[in-house]
Amino acid sequence: MATLSGAVGGLVLRNPVMLAAGILGTTGSSLRRAARAGAGCVVTKSVGASPREGHPGPVVVQVEGGLINAMGLPNPSYKNFQEEIDLARQGGVPVVASIFGDGPEEFAEVASGLDADCFELNLSCPHAERYGSEIGCEPSNVEDITRAVKKSVDVPVWVKLTPNVADIVSLGKAAQRGGANAVVAINTLKAMAIDVETGRPILGNRFGGLSGPAIKPVAIRCVFDLSAALEVPVIGVGGISSWEDAAEMILAGAQGVQVGTALAGGYGIFGEITAGLERYLVRKGLTLMELRGAARKTP
Ligand SMILES: Cc1cc2nc3c(=O)[nH]c(=O)nc-3n(C[C@H](O)[C@H](O)[C@H](O)COP(=O)(O)O)c2cc1C
Repeated sequence: MATLSGAVGGLVLRNPVMLAAGILGTTGSSLRRAARAGAGCVVTKSVGASPREGHPGPVVVQVEGGLINAMGLPNPSYKNFQEEIDLARQGGVPVVASIFGDGPEEFAEVASGLDADCFELNLSCPHAERYGSEIGCEPSNVEDITRAVKKSVDVPVWVKLTPNVADIVSLGKAAQRGGANAVVAINTLKAMAIDVETGRPILGNRFGGLSGPAIKPVAIRCVFDLSAALEVPVIGVGGISSWEDAAEMILAGAQGVQVGTALAGGYGIFGEITAGLERYLVRKGLTLMELRGAARKTP
């Protein structure tokens, strides 16, 4: 049996298949369930400095090839969140706290107020004013925020990047300069849907972020480019719904993968992906490490 365990972005995981940020809301019990279903680690919903209700509904619309969501970062604030992390930890795998803020000080405040196994910095949500990609599309912000969080915690720090820029590699390099232990690519693509009967945008916020199978080729390209340019590991996310998708992401250079929208099909996805990856490695006679980035090495 091929082994899937190993280091991912400064954590040691039993397998590299993780739950992506925000998919199962803010409850620790659903994160614990994902862990028990076989996830290598779980990432929480993004939490910030003060409670937020998020955008008015509808906040999600199904489109061809995926979903557009405009949740607007609803969260109870870090001051009311430690309990959920502690509950999630009962799942027996590392819990990564996804956090957001409006600049280095606020990010550092949120990170130092939580006890988590790792932090993932949301510098990439495309639908929240003053947060996410609004600040994360500027390399100097990415670098300063990463450095500030690194200074305030002693666990690994991952930086989740936006694909809504001309050059995602410059953001990855900024995160690396700031001391990131890994970059996570990608968050959702800024998108919109209009109801032809009413003639109005469907989402309460008008636009949101596209996720699901439609964005996989974009995510693969981003991971391919980032892993070629960076020394720090890259964690791939975007449209993964099968072991083949996970293998493709690893071939592009990912050290780990995250699954989001595909969770709509149930928690069994973690077991399906890890079992499929194990069989694939045995069939190919490869280790996970040999698979990683192999698409870049082929002439
Ligand atoms: C309903 C929903 C909520 C999300 N919430 C967050 C969030 O709180 N923080 C974050 O960094 N990403 C969030 N994301 C983005 C996902 O973590 C992931 O990057 C994106 O959906 C692409 O992966 P997928 O195609 O597997 O869903 C959210 C996505 C969805 C669909």
